[in-house]
Amino acid sequence: MTTSLQRAYSVAALRALAQQALPRPLFDFIDGAAEDEWTLRANESAFDDWAVLPRPLEGAAQRDLSLTLFGQRLASPVLVGPTGLAGLFWPQGEIATARAAAERGAVYCLSHGSVCTLEALAQAVERSHGAEQAARRWMQVFIYKDRAFTRELVDRARQAGYGAVVVTIDNQLLGKRERDLVNGFSSPPRFGPRQWLAFASKFPWWWRMRGELDRITFGNYVRENSRETVAGLAGRMASMLDPAMNWDDIAAVRRQWDGPLLIKGLLHPEDARRAVQAGVDGVIVSNHGGRQLDGALPSLRALPGVVQAVDGRIPVLLDGGVRRGGDVFKALGLGATAVLIGRPHLWGLAVAGQEGVAHVLKTLDAELDRVMGLAGVEAVTRIAPSGLVVRVQG
Ligand SMILES: Cc1cc2nc3c(=O)[nH]c(=O)nc-3n(C[C@H](O)[C@H](O)[C@H](O)COP(=O)(O)O)c2cc1C
Repeated sequence: MTTSLQRAYSVAALRALAQQALPRPLFDFIDGAAEDEWTLRANESAFDDWAVLPRPLEGAAQRDLSLTLFGQRLASPVLVGPTGLAGLFWPQGEIATARAAAERGAVYCLSHGSVCTLEALAQAVERSHGAEQAARRWMQVFIYKDRAFTRELVDRARQAGYGAVVVTIDNQLLGKRERDLVNGFSSPPRFGPRQWLAFASKFPWWWRMRGELDRITFGNYVRENSRETVAGLAGRMASMLDPAMNWDDIAAVRRQWDGPLLIKGLLHPEDARRAVQAGVDGVIVSNHGGRQLDGALPSLRALPGVVQAVDGRIPVLLDGGVRRGGDVFKALGLGATAVLIGRPHLWGLAVAGQEGVAHVLKTLDAELDRVMGLAGVEAVTRIAPSGLVVRVQG
């Protein structure tokens, strides 16, 4: 293990290391959120409104973190969520991340905006970990103005053997991310001397990426024989988003895809009820890590309403602000089946590639295991109904 990882005892410590490792525009792209970043902060602080009420004499000598989700055995309730451009933080960043997840028997959800194509990711993970990991590879898509492109991505996901499709619904317009605007990391990107200076100032990153930088693109959008630049692609992607999307579009994806289908970016209990009616297999309570609608309800606060509305009919997952194993425990205590992490795994990736992502997953699992041991609960599947998570404020 690299020395810096050995000293990184927490996700927060990895964030600090990522800040040292990455050029400022890239660190801010991961770390930042929309406008005043209130939702980002509130996602994290919402976990402080809840506490663990432990029962030490329940005798939890051995803890079982595993669970079954959509028929697949997962080693832990921590999943790796979709994040665009991971290949910019580490060479072949998506593949490195997917392999770290595969190594631990965790789900990896590829973003629509990955640098490598969804096919290349599938082949690379199959080469290293065999076909059995396929069901734990999920693919995230949007509803585009050109509905044929949504259909194309879903078809490609099927052909490449992905185990689930995740439709993100909170990205129908681009959020106003002011750090990115200042840094020129906007859509389309604006790179001048100041940005190149920032890149060159982080020499180890630049050296590591030297062979990759001119290949950085949005792999899934590149058309054969096209000469479109990344800036052109980014502009085209943004113009493809469709605020007119609606439940008919979810119904269309449902008709097309017969595997597990999840909606990501849902906060309202009524939408959760409609998702069940639409035949969706799971919902992800999320506000895109505060990167879209600043002022949106923090995920953990939205969770109980969604859990109540869904009433056990489909799994409810959550992302946003998970930084400790104790946060995972609280989310599960409030009825989530599993959680996804966004920024934390990217911080690990930026510091040490596959090993860094593995370190994040291991750290969160070890913390969750310790909380379970101290709280007296033997299995993650028993956290929810046990009244071990109680409200303290807010
Ligand atoms: C750099 C970055 C890129 C992201 N790209 C996507 C994306 O392409 N699709 C998507 O559905 N969510 C995307 N997200 C949102 C994450 O999937 C997730 O909802 C969010 O990061 C969770 O909050 P957390 O970062 O506090 O864990 C992105 C998040 C980050 C930090």
